[in-house]
Formats: sequence, structure tokens, C-alpha cells
Amino acid sequence: MNQHERTVTLRPDADGIDEAARLLADGRLVAFPTETVYGLGADARNDEAVAGIYAAKGRPSFNPLIIHVDSAETAEKYCHFTPEAGRLAQAFWPGAMTLVLPLRAESGISKLVTAGLDTVAVRVPDHPVGRALLKAFGAPVAAPSANPSGRISPTAAAHVMGGLAGRIAAVVDGGACEVGLESTIIGCAGAPVLMRAGGLPVEAIEACLGYPLQTEEDPNAPKSPGQLLSHYAPRGRVRLNVTSPEAGEILLGFGDVEGAALNLSPSGDLTEAAASLFAALHRLDDEGAERIAVSPIPDHGLGRAINDRLRRAAAPRGD
Ligand code: TXA
Ligand code: MG
Repeated sequence: MNQHERTVTLRPDADGIDEAARLLADGRLVAFPTETVYGLGADARNDEAVAGIYAAKGRPSFNPLIIHVDSAETAEKYCHFTPEAGRLAQAFWPGAMTLVLPLRAESGISKLVTAGLDTVAVRVPDHPVGRALLKAFGAPVAAPSANPSGRISPTAAAHVMGGLAGRIAAVVDGGACEVGLESTIIGCAGAPVLMRAGGLPVEAIEACLGYPLQTEEDPNAPKSPGQLLSHYAPRGRVRLNVTSPEAGEILLGFGDVEGAALNLSPSGDLTEAAASLFAALHRLDDEGAERIAVSPIPDHGLGRAINDRLRRAAAPRGD
């Protein structure tokens, strides 16, 4: 990887998408919009390109990546679908759900994507620009969130540039991400298990399956290797479930609270709060906030994923 390459911002039109697809085919790194967060994309079949993702993010190499494809039919070329996986894909793709499925022999996917596991994480994103890029490229794109490892995920092209400019070839600017939280990850190699709460509420998945999901999201005993406890971290210290902030703390509010410097959703809407969470943390970082207090957030629907990300933001730092 070239540490000092010039990172270009591409427009989300036909020319920009063609250029992005050409760069991917060339083994270069291109950040692109999805409805959840911006992904840092590389050709999932190209070992060197995938290695470039780990290098650009400074990501531990044991942490496997999600492949992005344009449809469930394309996904079937790379992995085996259980009946439950088929139902979930039918109900929620394109959308904010990733399935971890048994990898096909001869899939052609780089071992650096799966970190040598015999499963692969796959998703069909629901963003017109992301999907147009996947179609134009015509092959699976490995993409973690487009942020330096351990930092806040990007929900705008400017966030990507702030973290990765000079380390990647391009970012396609598709505006702000609508969902704003990473996808919900369901392990589907056997009985479905929740591996990461995310942008699709767990309740919706349970309603589709007709039974409650088993959980593998205990942050201290991660099965999904990317679930490092300290993650999504702003530079300031974060304190959660705060109803009365201390002197010197900046309040990140939720609902009808007084004295909030920023409010994730003054009306207490969890969808709005999810969409604004990472942008708010980026903004507090830019403003140099040293101590951040966060209002309580209800722990249902998208609140579960918001609280998961906030707990990681508040966790003791590994760095
Ligand atoms: O919304 C999203 O999911 C975004 C956008 C760009 O699609 N991507 C994203 O990727 O959040 P990333 O790399 O930050 O998170 C991928 C997660 C990690 O926690 C990783 O450990 C887990 O997926 N994962 C990937 N492959 C896996 C596998 N075979 N088994 C278990 N977990 C896996
Ligand atoms: Mg990430």
C-alpha cells in the first residue's frame, strides 16, 4: 500500500461509479456508501487488495470481513444457504443484515477475507450507489467500515476522508447514510444466532423466523472476532446513562432533556438516534470534547444496537 497516495472523491454518477469499479478491478481500495455506514472496499478475490484493507485500517489480521454482493442469487455462488438463511435473505435483502454462512469450495474468495474460517459473512446492501458499484464491478467486494481500526464508523464521505485520506485510492460520495449503524449479523451456518446487534432490529428477525434468537454478543466472550470491546471510540471519555451531567461534561442527549450540547433525537425516536449517532460522535471529536455524558437510551429495537456501540465507545481503551 502507498501510504501517501492522493485520495480522490468521486461523484455518485455513472462516471464516478465506472471509475470506482475500474480502481477495484485494479486492486485498489475504494470507500463507498451503503445504507448502514461507508465501507472500505477491495476485490474480495484479490489477496493483495484485501491485505491493503487491513493495512489501511491498521486492523488486526485475525478479524474477518464481510463480502458485499448485488443480490441473493450472486451470494449463492459463494456460500451455501440453509432454509432459515434463505427466508431471512428473502425478507431483508437488500438491507442492514449480514448472514454468516458456510463457504463454498472453489469460491475464489481470499483467505484473508474469511481469516481462514470455513464460513463467510455476506450482505446485499440497500443503497443505490453501493449497489450500482457492485453491479458495475461484477464481483464480490470485501468491505469493513471505512474507518481506522477502533475509531468511530463513517456515515459521510467527509468522515472517511478524515480517517483514511492518503491511504486509499478513492471515496464515492453518496451523502449521509440513512441507517447509520452497521448491519445486524446473524450466524446461519447452523441454528440462527445473533452475532452483532445492528441496523435491522432483532425483533424483526425473530418475527420472520417465528422464534427468539440465541445470542453470541457477550462482549467479553466474542465469537465474532471483530467484537473487540473498545471500539467505535471517540477521543474523549464517555459516560453512559447520565441523567445529571457533572461539571465539565458535554451532554449527548436523547429525548426531552435539558442542557444537551447535541441531541440524538429530541423526540425520542430510535431510528433518528441511530442515524445520527456516529455523526454526533465525530462532531464531538472534531470539537475536542474531553468528557462526554450520554442520556439513557431504551434497550429495545435499534436502541439495543445503539447501546452496544455506546458501551464500546465507553469501554477502557486498548490503545
Ligand atoms: O454494515 C456493515 O456491516 C458494514 C458495511 C460496510 O457493510 N460493515 C462492517 O464490517 O461493519 P466490519 O468489518 O466492521 O464488521 C464485520 C464483522 C466483524 O465483527 C467480523 O468479526 C464479523 O463481521 N465476521 C466476518 N466474517 C465472519 C465469520 N465468518 N464468522 C463470524 N464473524 C464474522
Ligand atoms: Mg467497523
